Amino acid sequence: MSTLIPSLVPTTTLLPQLVSSAGHTTDSLALLLELAQRLRNQLDANPTQKHWPLLQGRTVCTLFLEPSTRTRCSFELAAKYLGAHVLNFEASASSFSKGETIADTIETLLQLGVDAFIIRTGDNGFFEPLLAQFGHRAHFINAGEGTEDHPTQALLDLLTLTQQVPLAELAGKKLTIVGDVNHSRVAHATLKLLPGLGLKLHLAGPEAFVNPALAQRFSCTVHHTLEPALQNSDFVMTLRVQKERQTPALQASADGYIQYFQLTHERLQTHCRPSVKVLHPGPVNREVEITSALMDDPTYSLITQQVRNGLALRMAVLLNLLLPTQDVVL
Ligand code: CP
Repeated sequence: MSTLIPSLVPTTTLLPQLVSSAGHTTDSLALLLELAQRLRNQLDANPTQKHWPLLQGRTVCTLFLEPSTRTRCSFELAAKYLGAHVLNFEASASSFSKGETIADTIETLLQLGVDAFIIRTGDNGFFEPLLAQFGHRAHFINAGEGTEDHPTQALLDLLTLTQQVPLAELAGKKLTIVGDVNHSRVAHATLKLLPGLGLKLHLAGPEAFVNPALAQRFSCTVHHTLEPALQNSDFVMTLRVQKERQTPALQASADGYIQYFQLTHERLQTHCRPSVKVLHPGPVNREVEITSALMDDPTYSLITQQVRNGLALRMAVLLNLLLPTQDVVL
C-alpha cells in the first residue's frame, strides 16, 4: 500500500528533528499515528519479514548516556528492519568516557557518516545546543531527556490509547497519571503532547512526588489522594518509583506509597470506569506501583501492547524524519 510519510516537524533551516513532545499539531500526530498503526499491522501480519528497506544507505546512531531496554532496543530494531546501518555508541567504552565533549563526539560520528542520532541523556536542556550546532547536518531524536521529555514514549502511549478509543474521540476521556510525576520524563512528555486532544488530565501521588504547581503548568488537576483521582478514569498510567533519583526525604513518602497509591484490581474496579485500561512505560517495580496480578491481567493492562507499539512507532518516526513527504510503498 502506498502512503505519504508525514512531516512531523516542518522546518526550514534545520533537518527534521524530534527533540520535544510539545508543539505538534493534531493533524501531524494523526498522520504519524496512522503510519505507525500501518507498520504495527505489517509487523503483526508478517512476523518473519522484518525487512522494509526504505532507509537503505542511511546510518543511525544510538547514543545512550543512561540505561535503557525498551527504547534503545526498539530503535535499533526499527532502524534495522528499515534497512539502515546501525551504530550503537557505547559511551563507557568510548573517548567520551575520557572527557571528549559531546560536540566533538557528534562531529567525529558525523565525519564517519552518521545521518541520525538517537540520544538518551540525564540532563535537561541537552538538545538545544546540539541543534544549534549540528541541526542542519543531522537528525536528532530525543530518546529520554532528564526529567523533562521522552517524546517517542509519549507518542507510543498515544498510539496505544488510540487502539482503544479513536484519536478524534479521545476528547473528554479521563487519563490519570499516578506516581512520581516530578521525576518522570514520561509524565512530562505526556503532559506536553496531549493538551490539544482535549483529554481530562489528572495527576496523583504524595506531595513529594506531585508538585501542585504542575496543575497550572499543564492545565491538569492534582490530587494527593488516589481515590478521587481514579474516579471515572478511562485510562490510568502508573509510573515507576525511581529509587535511583530519591533523596532520603522523598524516601519517607515512598514508604507509604504502596499503602496509598499502589494500583490494584480492587482500586481500579471500585473507582474507575468498567472499561478502564492501565498503562506503565516500564520498567516496572512489581508489587510497588502496581500489583503483579494487575500488570499481567490483559483485561486491564496495556503494558505489553505499549512495548510492541514502541517498535512500530519508532519505525514511523525514523521514516518521518529521514524520508519526510516521500511516497513509499509499505
Ligand atoms: N520506558 C522506557 O523508556 O524504558 P527504557 O528505559 O527501558 O527504555
